[in-house]
Amino acid sequence: MNIVVFVSGRGSNLQAILNSDLLKNKVEVKAVFSDKTDCPAFEIARQNSIKYYSLGDKENSISYNDLISLLESQKIELIVLAGFLKLIPDAVIAKFKNRIINIHPALLPSFGGKGMYGMKVHEAVFKSSAKVSGASIHLVDETYDTGKIVAQQCVDISDVTSPMEIAERVLKIEHMLLPYVISKFADGNIKIINERVVIV
Ligand code: GAR
Repeated sequence: MNIVVFVSGRGSNLQAILNSDLLKNKVEVKAVFSDKTDCPAFEIARQNSIKYYSLGDKENSISYNDLISLLESQKIELIVLAGFLKLIPDAVIAKFKNRIINIHPALLPSFGGKGMYGMKVHEAVFKSSAKVSGASIHLVDETYDTGKIVAQQCVDISDVTSPMEIAERVLKIEHMLLPYVISKFADGNIKIINERVVIV
């Protein structure tokens, strides 16, 4: 299965996808896209000889219209948002219905929505005094973090003393959960049944 990965920053989830034994000989990352003109994740793409592009209307960036043509010509079956912080335009969502997933570093539908990304999420979880957090992977729709949930895994945070500790525990889970879900997509084992996303 051909996939592309959208990133905005560090790219540790991109690295986890590239390192995953589950995805070897099954999934190929054809390109990496970012809303930024440069970001650390592009360095990961460079090291792995993967093409990378900046998205938007800046110089040397590609437009979302050109993006659709590029994804179609490359026969991309799944778009993975791995730390991508911008809203995906409706036209892209319409073309790739139920074929765009996002990883979120908390247990949705709590601690999601516009402006809830990265450490902001973990700070909110910490302040809430929640005793569990985790990672969620969901289908992407027209608004932030509201699409149907594909998979979640939780982690005990009852003993943490800082938001950073929550971030570290959740990130470990993300790096396992994301390759797992992508491999299930590649196997054709993700279905929508009775309004729920089911891994069969
Ligand atoms: C990850 O923790 C991801 O869940 C989060 O950004 C981080 C990106 O890290 N995404 C969001 O907060 C989206 N709302 P990475 O660049 O090292 O993969």
